Amino acid sequence: MSVVKDKILVIGASGQIGVELTLALRKRYGNLNVVASDLREENPLLKGSGPYVSLDVMNKEMLHVQVIRQNITQIYLLAAILSATGEKNPNLAWHLNMQGLLNVLDIAREEKLHKIYWPSSIAVFGPTSPKQHCPQQTIIEPSTVYGISKYAGEFWCKYYHNRYGVDVRSLRYPGLISYKSEPGGGTTDYAIEIFNGALEDKKYRCFLKEDTFLPMMYMPDAIRATLELMDAPADKISVRTSYNISGMSFSPKEIGAEILKLIPDFKLSYAPDYRQAIADSWPQSIDDTVASGDWGWKPQYNLPKMTADMIENLSNN
Ligand code: NAD
Ligand code: SER
Repeated sequence: MSVVKDKILVIGASGQIGVELTLALRKRYGNLNVVASDLREENPLLKGSGPYVSLDVMNKEMLHVQVIRQNITQIYLLAAILSATGEKNPNLAWHLNMQGLLNVLDIAREEKLHKIYWPSSIAVFGPTSPKQHCPQQTIIEPSTVYGISKYAGEFWCKYYHNRYGVDVRSLRYPGLISYKSEPGGGTTDYAIEIFNGALEDKKYRCFLKEDTFLPMMYMPDAIRATLELMDAPADKISVRTSYNISGMSFSPKEIGAEILKLIPDFKLSYAPDYRQAIADSWPQSIDDTVASGDWGWKPQYNLPKMTADMIENLSNN
């Protein structure tokens, strides 16, 4: 029996998730079997750990050439414009978030790739969605261009799966908190900036109000969720749009209080800006019972555990 070896292309590998996901995939599949790619230069943390190609996901021909040349069988598509940056340039956000996905799905269909991963977001939910324990299926009326692009993308994934048999899988990530690579322009970025402020200046001015609760997740949980979803047998994947997954939910005031326990002279102030309206349109917490039931999703980090780990790692860096 011949065993088909997978060769993976990560698009957007120099970004906040891309760096850690590429390193995790290289650990699992072998360094040479995971090709990192991005529009910008290779992230220093990836240097020397495996192959890197410069690639624009909007250039379908070049993407297609790379897929064939490198014998790619799986693509993880992470290139996107996030919520806050998207509101500054809605046309660009729509164009990249939609066309990038369609380019990848088309090539997956033509080249019969084994699996595709593409993340969606809690940003698909809007002001009319339930605020607490927002379920997998509910009213979904996003109010940001980012949320609209993610919701449309979810249905393109389902369409390519149903019509062409493309095995594309997706998670609606909450706001992701990490210390290895910089966040890329989201509304939840305050929950990373607050740690840098606390450690560097003992203070942070938050761009959201103190009582703004949002769904969040620590990066190790997000990477594990991604690998677990991609490992799950196809018959366990009942959701072909995108799965809700939950980690934790907290407000700026709550994370500030947690940081204060470890950095006693930390000062937190507030100056809400245009990102407040984006945050106010999203749910405060997410119900992920479908992901738990289908492929066993369970988070490992809560607010105190994540805070302690962030401070320890950022201090060591
Ligand atoms: P990021 O902005 O940090 O990284 C995106 C990467 O894509 C960047 O390195 C950028 O240079 C690259 N890129 C941009 N345009 C490109 C192009 N045309 N061709 C190739 N590469 C290009 O974003 P991230 O936080 O790592 O997010 C990755 C994915 O996860 C996105 O789809 C995002 O919507 C989703 N997501 C992220 C979060 C979060 O909190 N970080 C939450 C929900 C969903
Ligand atoms: N963290 C992301 C953002 O704020 C959610 O998708 O845009």
